[in-house]
Amino acid sequence: MTQSLLHQILDYANRANPYPIYEQLRKTPVHHDDGGPYVISTYYEIRSLLHDPRISSDARNLASTAGDPLAEPAQEEESALPPGFLRLDPPEHDRLRRMTNRPFGPPHSPHRVDGMRGELHDIVSGLVDGIGDPGRIDLVEQFSYPFPVTVICRLLGVPREDESRFHTWADTIAASLDPDPDADPTERGKGANDARMQLGMYLAGLIEERRKNPGDDMLSQLATAKGEDGSMTTMELLSTAALLLIAGHETTVNLITNGMLTLLRHPDVLQRLREDPRLAVPVVEELLRFEPPVQLVPQRTTLADIEVRGVTIPKGASLWLVLASGNRDPQRFEDPDRFDPDRPDNQHLGLGSGIHSCFGAPLARLEAQFALAELARRLENPRLLEDPPPYRQNAVLRGPRHLHISCDGIRP
Ligand code: HEM
Repeated sequence: MTQSLLHQILDYANRANPYPIYEQLRKTPVHHDDGGPYVISTYYEIRSLLHDPRISSDARNLASTAGDPLAEPAQEEESALPPGFLRLDPPEHDRLRRMTNRPFGPPHSPHRVDGMRGELHDIVSGLVDGIGDPGRIDLVEQFSYPFPVTVICRLLGVPREDESRFHTWADTIAASLDPDPDADPTERGKGANDARMQLGMYLAGLIEERRKNPGDDMLSQLATAKGEDGSMTTMELLSTAALLLIAGHETTVNLITNGMLTLLRHPDVLQRLREDPRLAVPVVEELLRFEPPVQLVPQRTTLADIEVRGVTIPKGASLWLVLASGNRDPQRFEDPDRFDPDRPDNQHLGLGSGIHSCFGAPLARLEAQFALAELARRLENPRLLEDPPPYRQNAVLRGPRHLHISCDGIRP
């Protein structure tokens, strides 16, 4: 029996190169197998749905998922820790996002991210200095993972030394986002629930401490804020902190690793970046289009019957928006399978679009720019030891588990 396109996306065998499947998928821009979600794969349709107020991010609006082998477990309703604002609709979403933005970005905190430049530079330099044997480097373990984790811990005020505790919880929660048809949804839901509960308890202790002794970190500021939107309840604070910690953990690592992998496959661009670090800005944008760390958004629901390209998607249906496929849509991007940092008008979907577009985007961009410019400058003659590298299981948050490279030495 031939596998459905959806199962092919989720099949680990296709993780290293899912793009031919997306090309197949785009032949039917609204793809629907009986009982499964409606899968949208073309640029303009994805973008329009991301801006459509008739589309909900709140899992409570999903009609029954019984009989849908691809439905993700609706674990959060029973969880001790409610979903963060990523999974809420206006007006709750907008209120929580505004409150979270107060200590993070303009207009209230215009210097927060920009003010981290010196710190980002020091963390990156320290990690490259500590690489050790240049003959065998695992870029994920030695660089791409520790860098954003250290950054998000500093930003939130979470002790870096607690990383081994929340690493497993963050991974379990991220894995549960994957709509894996072969996993037992009850077991997976329970595992994710336990992890959310433990993470919630851990963060509750930390927030308690920050309320007593506030610092200049985001957790302290969120815990003590009294702006025009009032204060967050303890539950809102916990789910927001968990959302930021997980988002800061599970995405930037893949952007940096996908980035180095792509540059090593395009040595001409790597050479240009080495000569001119300012190229890091368009390189990161093109990477967000070409190899986006968030491949698809599988958690949207229709609040009404909606017609897309002549297909009526009924109210309460589950939608998958395949961002990575939209990014390779030839109707939108010329020669879309070519990695080209000089591409004009690169309005990719790598950070989403609309009201849920990535909250951490300015930080994620800056981290990846620093990381890739420094790796290009300091690694002497870097080479891939394995191509393709082994990937993580996750099809939604896609990226290599390890990236083994070698180089002739580390420049000062
Ligand atoms: C390269 C790194 C990153 C990528 C590719 C990425 C991608 C995305 C995408 C595609 C969305 C939209 C999801 C949707 O529409 O359902 C999103 C939302 C979000 N991201 Fe990121 N992200 C990254 C880094 C970060 C970081 C570092 C943070 C935290 C500081 C963060 C925090 C968030 C939050 C809180 C949301 C939810 C926004 C909302 O619902 O209003 N992200 N991200």
